[in-house]
Amino acid sequence: MLISGICGSLRNESWNKLLLKIFLEKISDNSNFETDVIDVSKFPLYNADIEAKSLPESVLSAKEKVKNSDLIIFASPAYNSSLSGVMKNIVDWISRPPKVIDDKYILVIGATPGLSGTLLGYTHLNHILLSLGMNVLNQPRLLVSKVDKQIAPNGKILTEELSQLFDNSVNQLIKKLNNLY
Ligand SMILES: Cc1cc2nc3c(=O)[nH]c(=O)nc-3n(C[C@H](O)[C@H](O)[C@H](O)COP(=O)(O)O)c2cc1C
Repeated sequence: MLISGICGSLRNESWNKLLLKIFLEKISDNSNFETDVIDVSKFPLYNADIEAKSLPESVLSAKEKVKNSDLIIFASPAYNSSLSGVMKNIVDWISRPPKVIDDKYILVIGATPGLSGTLLGYTHLNHILLSLGMNVLNQPRLLVSKVDKQIAPNGKILTEELSQLFDNSVNQLIKKLNNLY
C-alpha cells in the first residue's frame, strides 16, 4: 500500500511540510506501508489555455503518483480563514481529466502558528474534496495550533500533548487502513 503526501505550502521552512514529513515517517516506521511526498512545486497557476495545449510535465507526473496511491494526505496551511491558494491550485489541476481521484481515500492535516489549528481551511478543503467524490477520512484529526511552540525546526516534537496526538493519529490511521484494504 502506498500513502502519498501533498503539501499546500511551497516555502522551504514550511511547518506543514514538516508536519507531513514527520507523520509519513511515523506511519512507515510503524507499518508496512510505503510513503512518498508528491512534488507539486512546479505546478503553474491553472490556466485552461495551458491545459488545452498539453498537461505540464509536473502535473502529469503528480497525477500519475496520485493514481498509484491508496491514500493521499493533504497538508494545508490556513490562509485567511481558508485553505491556501497553492492548495486550491493543486486540487484544481489534479481534478482535471484524465480522472485519477475518483474514490481515492484522502486525509487532510494542517498546522499553524496561530490558535485555529487550520480548522476553517481544513473544513473548506474537506468540502472541496468531498464534492469531487473523494473518500474523505474524518479521523484521525491531526490539526496543530501553536506549531512553532510544539515542533522544533529540526522536526523534534516539543510537547507531550503533540507527541500523544501523533501516536494516536498514526495508530488510528494504520488501523483504519488495515480495515479498508
Ligand atoms: C496570506 C496569509 C494569510 C494567513 N491567514 C491565516 C489565518 O487565517 N489563520 C491562521 O491561523 N494563520 C494564518 N496565516 C499564518 C499561516 O498559517 C502561517 O504563515 C503558516 O506558517 C503557513 O504555513 P507554512 O508554515 O506551512 O508555510 C496566514 C498567512 C498568510 C501568508
